[in-house]
Amino acid sequence: MKRFAGQTVFVTGGNKGIGRGIATRFAEEGAQVAIAAIEADTPEIAAAIAAETGAKTLGVTLDVTDAAAVREAYAEAEARLGTLSVSVQNAGVITIAKVEDLTEREWDLNLDVNTKGVFLCCQEAVKRFRASGTKGRLINTASGQARQGFIYTPHYAASKFGVVGLTQSLAKELAREGITANAICPGIIHTEMWDYNDRVWGRMLGEYGPGELMAEWVEGIPMGRAGTPAEVGALVAFLASQDAAYITGQTINVDGGLIMS
Ligand SMILES: NC(=O)c1ccc[n+]([C@@H]2O[C@H](COP(=O)([O-])OP(=O)(O)OC[C@H]3O[C@@H](n4cnc5c(N)ncnc54)[C@H](O)[C@@H]3O)[C@@H](O)[C@H]2O)c1
Repeated sequence: MKRFAGQTVFVTGGNKGIGRGIATRFAEEGAQVAIAAIEADTPEIAAAIAAETGAKTLGVTLDVTDAAAVREAYAEAEARLGTLSVSVQNAGVITIAKVEDLTEREWDLNLDVNTKGVFLCCQEAVKRFRASGTKGRLINTASGQARQGFIYTPHYAASKFGVVGLTQSLAKELAREGITANAICPGIIHTEMWDYNDRVWGRMLGEYGPGELMAEWVEGIPMGRAGTPAEVGALVAFLASQDAAYITGQTINVDGGLIMS
């Protein structure tokens, strides 16, 4: 089913991990997809997704914390792919440190990318939805850590709780215009970010070998397995679809039952 035929979708962090799952799902469902990420090879990854799916894509190397660059990237996406319908704010970072070792730089990086970056992209998308009269969709990647803070990541938890707050605020402002804003909370999805988590949390929490901490935490998931980027992409596509027109300001877990609130 090509639910997004003719629509232009912007996905930050769409070159790998969860974002690639999201971008691929939209491409498979007929959208033109702009993929914006910090890595220099983002245009090549976007071209690979186009080759895999037959969709038109655009890859832009972008730092989501740079407001001017965000403006330019959205302008280029609309100029090359057409009027924007959906913006997915998914780019994110994590670092892990004990409270006394957590640097101001780490604090700023997590808040800048995970919270300010989400806001800057939402802001630019909303300007464009309003200019074109589009009942657009904002979908923001939060985390299980937007529900409950975990050990050694107060900065990451703060940044993700912030995503939920800004999403709710935008949802209220935009509701009468038919623009929705929702947040999603992935649980444990096997990506490069989780390889880092496994290595660093594993080292800090005990004598864990590679993959052992993740395996232990996955055992605690009611469904007994990690999620996939494609499963997150399926939720994001639903929230962007016509079927979700009456859903706004919500925060939805996609985590195999890990957190039930
Ligand atoms: N993997 C998980 O289990 C999990 C769980 C909960 C939430 N999340 C969130 O999902 C999102 C994607 O995570 P992932 O696991 O795919 O991670 P990943 O490390 O595989 O990918 C991170 C993405 O963010 C992009 N990015 C980082 N800094 C950026 C910047 N300054 N400007 C633009 N792009 C930047 C990277 O280019 C990359 O595409 C993040 O927001 C993360 O916090 C992941």
